[in-house]
Amino acid sequence: MCGIIGYVGTRDVVPVLIGGLKKLEYRGYDSAGIAVVNGDGVEVVRAEGKLSNLEVKLGEKPVTGSFGMGHTRWATHGKPNENNAHPHRDCSGNIVVIHNGIIENFLPLKQRLQKAGHEFRTETDTEVVAHLIEETMKDGTKFVDAVRRTLKELEGHYALVMIDGSEPGTIIAAKHGPPLVVGLGENENLIASDVAPLLAYTRDIIYLEDGEYVVVTDQKVELFNRQDERILRPPKRITWDAVAAEKEGYRHYMLKEIHEQPRAVRDTFTGRMFEESGEIFFNDLSFTAEEWSKIQRVHVVACGTSWHAGLVGKFLLEDAARIPIEVDYGSEYRYRNPIVDETTLVIGVTQSGETADTIAGMQEAKAKGAKLISICNVLGSAATRMSDGVIYTNAGPEIGVASTKAFTTQLTAFYLLSLYIRSLRGEKDLRTAMHELSSIPHKIERLLKQEKHIEALAHKYSKAQDFLFLGRGLHYPIALEGALKLKEISYIHAEGYPAGEMKHGPIALIDENLPVVAIATRTPVYEKVVSNLQEVKARDGKLIAICDEGDESMKAFADDVIEVPSTIEALQPILTVIPTQLLAYYIALRRGCDVDQPRNLAKSVTVE
Ligand code: AGP
Repeated sequence: MCGIIGYVGTRDVVPVLIGGLKKLEYRGYDSAGIAVVNGDGVEVVRAEGKLSNLEVKLGEKPVTGSFGMGHTRWATHGKPNENNAHPHRDCSGNIVVIHNGIIENFLPLKQRLQKAGHEFRTETDTEVVAHLIEETMKDGTKFVDAVRRTLKELEGHYALVMIDGSEPGTIIAAKHGPPLVVGLGENENLIASDVAPLLAYTRDIIYLEDGEYVVVTDQKVELFNRQDERILRPPKRITWDAVAAEKEGYRHYMLKEIHEQPRAVRDTFTGRMFEESGEIFFNDLSFTAEEWSKIQRVHVVACGTSWHAGLVGKFLLEDAARIPIEVDYGSEYRYRNPIVDETTLVIGVTQSGETADTIAGMQEAKAKGAKLISICNVLGSAATRMSDGVIYTNAGPEIGVASTKAFTTQLTAFYLLSLYIRSLRGEKDLRTAMHELSSIPHKIERLLKQEKHIEALAHKYSKAQDFLFLGRGLHYPIALEGALKLKEISYIHAEGYPAGEMKHGPIALIDENLPVVAIATRTPVYEKVVSNLQEVKARDGKLIAICDEGDESMKAFADDVIEVPSTIEALQPILTVIPTQLLAYYIALRRGCDVDQPRNLAKSVTVE
């Protein structure tokens, strides 16, 4: 999830670009760069790390111009160093591109272009676009037409901004997936990933839709569809303030991030699973079948929500690998002298990549000879630097303290890893499993349409002093996660429990004042869960059931239901957790809590 801005007009473009990138830093910040067109052609300045590093470079060697673009990176392909920072250029240095998203077919395109003599300078997928435009212009095709032809060759999803230094004053931008908006000014126009950086110049915004592209000069903005037909779309007048704009109109980052989950899950599997060939490919992780055969046990080390993801991962990996998978809190693992040797694989699961207890657990395992991989959301973080391999969750920066999109992308990463292990163990046909995962983003979107219903349930139960969350099997970790979400942002005491364990104690809590949230989707133990819920109802407990769409018997039986689209058991947790996120959010909101920064909590606990 990167930040993009482009400007053409009469102002000195560098302050416009830097100021805009500052408003976009929350979208990613492992490197940044700008391209400015002036009398000396195209000048590109890039820097690794925070945006301030780029500002230092520009202070040392100023550039000026009235036309250009800028990018702050959240890396998906290629390490977060200066060489891989955007913008990227073609061989001539004239065609310059910045990009948010993933070009799925960049490898075959790159090979074709290298055969045609193009010299590549980076590991990124983005650079392919600049060379493809250059190659297309070789026969005299004009820049705009070369871009049109290039866009038709790209697969994947992207927000692209492109300029040709030999055609100053024209910016072309294209959208297919990640957001892109155009700001209409007086003798100036802007392009950006979202509204926040534009509000200093204009409140008249055109939102691009997928498959559309726009040709922008300081005097005009021409919008085209996939068939290259002109579209006339009146601008929307934005009334938000700048802070609201960074939340893209959502009241809190947490709610925005809950709604980003379709895109975040899609970004986590895109470019890694190929349904036609049945292959799984990780950029930063590789095992040979022979190496995998030497692994005799797996330890998952994590904290909080990431530990819950590890519990789901246990089910997925044990089913795939048929070896013991242990899941432990970092704070416990680091001091229990775990039994680890070179036949042990240790997986550190951590959104931030900086959680002290998790890092310490990973260090302990590494010191004992384990092979170490991490599932992490922050490229270049401590966990990733110490790992032999990494599966990045590509969720984009998670600002809300309560983890949401990081969790569902961790589950996605575990699912992909389980398919990868299956392929290493010789399983052949994984396409059905892949196809089901590719349907999950749309199912999340359908589920999010129940937001108003869940908000009403939150209001109904917001006065409760205690909650019990129940689930079995893969949904037991979801019961734990739902309880954690609620307690950490609403401060209501909540417990997650295996549904089958309720009779061994928690049943004493059940009465008409205790809401019980139960995950009761169709699994092999569905009837067992129903029996447990009958015990709840028999004691006047208030039952909120998260069940499959159309489960009429559950709808007749529970006090309230939240229906989730059906999917295979292994993928159900990605869906069933979402109602618990929204329930927690709206209960906390109703109770006047600080949802994005709950009391006593930090986003990343970098101390013991
Ligand atoms: C989750 O909502 C919490 N913010 C917390 O439990 C978090 O998951 C935990 O601190 C681990 O953080 P990490 O994933 O960055 O390692």
